[in-house]
Amino acid sequence: MGYNMTFDVESGDFATAGQASRKIKKKLQDLGISSKIIRRIAIAGYEGEMNLAIHSDGGQILLDAEPGVITLRLEDTGPGIGNVDLAMTEGWSTASDSVREMGFGAGMGLPNMRNNADGFEITSRPGVGTKIKMTFDL
Ligand SMILES: Nc1ncnc2c1ncn2[C@@H]1O[C@H](COP(=O)(O)OP(=O)(O)O)[C@@H](O)[C@H]1O
Ligand SMILES: [Mg+2]
Repeated sequence: MGYNMTFDVESGDFATAGQASRKIKKKLQDLGISSKIIRRIAIAGYEGEMNLAIHSDGGQILLDAEPGVITLRLEDTGPGIGNVDLAMTEGWSTASDSVREMGFGAGMGLPNMRNNADGFEITSRPGVGTKIKMTFDL
């Protein structure tokens, strides 16, 4: 192994949102990662990708596959999260009505990411951006 790749996620692009997490899933299958772990990474990656598309000004997903651990990093360029503890609360969402009509905004994305990953770190600076690092032990 020792594989890494970067995916750009554009803000508000619902037509292509989900593409990066699909490619990541496919790559992990090619690498022979167990389907049980791929499922967790796919869920967490999809939630992270949708958050970049819905809530951020755009960003990147960085995949790093090493012997023993898969790391997914999400990095965006704003607007940041004012209260991370609140954002991590199940059911808490700032999604607009139009986003909710598309079926998003249940406020479960960040909690699901934390629950599916073995390691979860989030740092956010209002006006600067948000960084999330998730690790999955193999
Ligand atoms: N990358 C991000 N940039 C800015 N705000 C974010 C980001 N990710 C999440 N948030 C904030 O955290 C809230 C909770 O996120 P999440 O649990 O995924 O729920 P949902 O996406 O359904 O609103 C969002 O409504 C939003 O206010
Ligand atoms: Mg979300």
